[in-house]
Amino acid sequence: MNIATSKRLEGIGEYYFSQKLREIDELNKQGKQIINLGIGSPDLPPHPEVIKTLQEEAAKPNVHAYQSYKGSPVLRKAVADWYSKWYGVTLNPDTEILPLLGSKEGIMHICMTYLNKGDKVLVPNPGYPTYRSAVKLAGGECIDYELKEENNWYPDFDQLENIVGSSLGYKLMWVNYPHMPTGRLPEKALFEKLVAFGKKHNILICHDNPYSFILNDSPMSLFSVEGAKEVVIELNSLSKSQNMAGWRIGTLCGAKERIDEVLRFKSNMDSGMFLPLQLAAAKALGLGKDWYDSVNAVYAARRKKVFELLDLLNCVYDKSQAGMFVWAKIPAGYKNGFALSDEILYNANVFITPGGIFGSAGEQYIRVSLCSPEEKLGESIKRVNELFLQVKDK
Ligand SMILES: Cc1ncc(COP(=O)(O)O)c(C=O)c1O
Repeated sequence: MNIATSKRLEGIGEYYFSQKLREIDELNKQGKQIINLGIGSPDLPPHPEVIKTLQEEAAKPNVHAYQSYKGSPVLRKAVADWYSKWYGVTLNPDTEILPLLGSKEGIMHICMTYLNKGDKVLVPNPGYPTYRSAVKLAGGECIDYELKEENNWYPDFDQLENIVGSSLGYKLMWVNYPHMPTGRLPEKALFEKLVAFGKKHNILICHDNPYSFILNDSPMSLFSVEGAKEVVIELNSLSKSQNMAGWRIGTLCGAKERIDEVLRFKSNMDSGMFLPLQLAAAKALGLGKDWYDSVNAVYAARRKKVFELLDLLNCVYDKSQAGMFVWAKIPAGYKNGFALSDEILYNANVFITPGGIFGSAGEQYIRVSLCSPEEKLGESIKRVNELFLQVKDK
């Protein structure tokens, strides 16, 4: 049958990783045993108490029905307590929190809730590719704001004023600090400028905040800026900091009006989250500093190995990055990060992400994930070393 796909899918390719993982699967079937240092999916398990809660709750007979569209009050309260404890931010658990099936779906929900055809949305370049595809799927138009290394990967507010001042129709702006892929941490002054910018131009600032606990001792929420609730929605996630990526649990926080608006869309898309998952998520959010310290000790040790690998590749990088990746500038000998990534994939059986998938401003960079054990990182170093020795011998 020849059936045309919808117009809204035009220009939307398959997600880069979904395509690349298929290729890696094929190479593995040929016996290559590729080490994948690409995707940011934590390989460590959640805390044992979290798993125990899921097991115990799932064994109960009365937890299997559809759940509230607004999420369990237990989970909403746990999110509010978590925000208060770690970010110093007060949220009303009844009205200002909406649990999500992972923060990725929240990106789509926000776009579907607010965008009409042709509405303009500021998206970071480089940035998480989903912002771009969600905006396009919802009919909006992406307008890039470029992040540059010389500006510490922060938006250039003069450039933003020029962009927004020259035309009407801007509705949303996507921001994400700690920033993926560059690992750049936020500062209070940046957050204040973002809130002021949103207020001045009547633009909803959508802050995606899944990395604030990884290799970072001072988690920050955009809501820590006074008056932010007027113009900010924030997404958060248990995928990274609680090692629960496959569980699909995130949260959207914002003023009551925003939560009600997004819920109008979301309640038409799903029918709530399995209650035992929500109760286990609440348990995870209650974990103390020991938990974050133990996770971060593992990432810190891995990061040292990744630095070694990057030194071998002659890349340049900032050692103070947060999040579960290291972002690095490639040496002059390569056309771009795709060329370096391909060389290492096909000749050393190691996959690292080319920075260009995050936007044109990332083309001269690569991103290495910290989600592999130290032994695998050590093996990657060995393989790349061997490749370079072979090349030298030729
Ligand atoms: C910047 C950013 N936002 C959101 C997500 C999605 O997270 P979740 O698992 O909560 O959907 C990711 C995942 O890689 C990410 O890197």
